[in-house]
Amino acid sequence: MRITSILNIIILFSLCATIINAVPTFEKRQEGPSDPDFNTNIFTSFKPLETTPSPITREYTLVLARTPLAPDGFQRFVWTANGQYPGPTIRANKGDRFIIHVQNNLGEFATIHWHGLFQKTTTFYDGVAGLTQCLIQDGTTFTYNFTAGDQYGTYWWHSHYSAQYADGLRGPLIIHDPNDPYLNDYDEEFVMTLSDWHHTESEQLIKLRMSPGYTGFNPIPDAGLISGRGRYDCSKAPPGSNCTQDNPLAVYSVEKGKRYRFRIINSSAEAPYTFSIDQHPLRIIEVEGENIKPISMNKLNIAVGQRYSVIVTADKDVSNFWIRATIVKQCIHVSPQTININSALNYQVTGILRYVGAPDEYPNTQEWDEKILNCRDVDHNLLKLNPPRPPPQTVTDNFTLVITFAPTQDGVGHAMINGSPFIPELDDPTTNKLMYGGDETPDQLDKDQNAFVYDTENGAVEISLVNENIAPHPFHLHGHNFFVMGHGDGNTPDPSQFNLVDPAVRDTVTVLGNSWTTLRYYIDNPGIWAFHCHIEWHVEMGMLGQVVERPSELKGDPIPPQIKSICPPDPDDNNNNQAAAPKRRTLNFTKDKRTGSIHSLHHKYKFIRGSAY
Ligand code: C2O
Ligand code: CU
Repeated sequence: MRITSILNIIILFSLCATIINAVPTFEKRQEGPSDPDFNTNIFTSFKPLETTPSPITREYTLVLARTPLAPDGFQRFVWTANGQYPGPTIRANKGDRFIIHVQNNLGEFATIHWHGLFQKTTTFYDGVAGLTQCLIQDGTTFTYNFTAGDQYGTYWWHSHYSAQYADGLRGPLIIHDPNDPYLNDYDEEFVMTLSDWHHTESEQLIKLRMSPGYTGFNPIPDAGLISGRGRYDCSKAPPGSNCTQDNPLAVYSVEKGKRYRFRIINSSAEAPYTFSIDQHPLRIIEVEGENIKPISMNKLNIAVGQRYSVIVTADKDVSNFWIRATIVKQCIHVSPQTININSALNYQVTGILRYVGAPDEYPNTQEWDEKILNCRDVDHNLLKLNPPRPPPQTVTDNFTLVITFAPTQDGVGHAMINGSPFIPELDDPTTNKLMYGGDETPDQLDKDQNAFVYDTENGAVEISLVNENIAPHPFHLHGHNFFVMGHGDGNTPDPSQFNLVDPAVRDTVTVLGNSWTTLRYYIDNPGIWAFHCHIEWHVEMGMLGQVVERPSELKGDPIPPQIKSICPPDPDDNNNNQAAAPKRRTLNFTKDKRTGSIHSLHHKYKFIRGSAY
């Protein structure tokens, strides 16, 4: 008896050992819509992924296409991934490798960016058109291949070419941490996306927004969507449209007694949201990949690009409760000239939190009786890292970015950083220019490349954003999370107001109108990093800078040939497809390029859609 059980244990043990041994070589492929780490139904709750003894590779395919869908009841072509909007939720465990095949069947170019992931050592997989890669042509597949290192938390992916993401090309990306400190504080998880929605395709909206002499503001959306669902009043739709009244709302189904982690992502083109669930406080535990000491709020402001994880406890009577995602009217500037001024937008966007067992009815619950300050981020003094991490006390590199708007000579309204609107060079991205095999140095980049360069090892950067415009701008930095050192009114950053002890850390921060915000981060990630307002219309108008981090190291860092191979052949550069063979442009060439007509050399595609972003 005793011997048999010992034998059994030995057999069991060796069996386990074989299984464990076998795991590290295991590569997980996407197993179709039923694969639990590739959620295609955003309303299905999930648990953390099974852990593996060592990181694994997770392979996904996103097939991009235009699909007729009606997220708010009004049918239009939606830029979809795998036929759906929002795109599928990509999930992985901390340390895993992502291999993501992007098959472009859109009938136009595309790129995909992984918002919030640092792309350490893989800046060329950051997916930014004109900065880190050439465009993925229609009918071709491009493969992204990267890890997120130690990162965990709530992210999203979206097109980073033209304003495509406003047409639907966006979805969640979640990294689970098996050692998440709050793992025992919730039973299940949900993902929720908030977005504004337009019935007109973004290409047309940009054309209008950037037509000479235009004096309006950003296009007013037609609807707001919670997890891809909203409701449009079809009586306001133009005659002949295909519109269905009373479109189904987003419904999240919870079991009484359980606790849910909601990962909320604002993936709008412009709209900031105030979020709440009637009678259910939100216990915030994560801000953009940073765990924080939990704080409880009833109403939460979320700007474009930002994410929060909140724990919601289903401890009320079995019933229905409104989920409220309000587009705050005062935060969106309009004038009589503004595109879509007669929009039938219902600013009070709603969904339903439905307890299992509750009838299929609308809630009749009341909104939290509470006023919060509009158009601004959650008070950063409340967001304390857990565990704490000190900000840089001194900085080695310092930049001030002044944000203004003005028309260029042609009368087209532009957004500027230090007086210069960014103009992408789609066929010759900065990585191609500055990394191994490239033929330029950072000081040769044109002024309209809005490059901010630093080459310091073990240093720290300070960036002050000075917003001389009346509107708030949610600024997002690629490649880093930053410490929000301080902010204040006026155009002179005041270091005496900096929090040098325990500032909030995140990757997207709202700079209020006529105010400054100062950020700091450690220089630990060589690469080409976009730094831009996440209001898509402003990006199109030029409100983008690129941070060139430690270019001397980039010069020694080859770009994988398959990345360069999608660039159009450059008649002036016969090594375009060969990362390893450097070729120098002559100084003459560079001079000509810099004084000649703007970037014609870099624009070889005749059919490029709009400007980039
Ligand atoms: Cu959400 Cu430059 O990105
Ligand atoms: Cu902006």
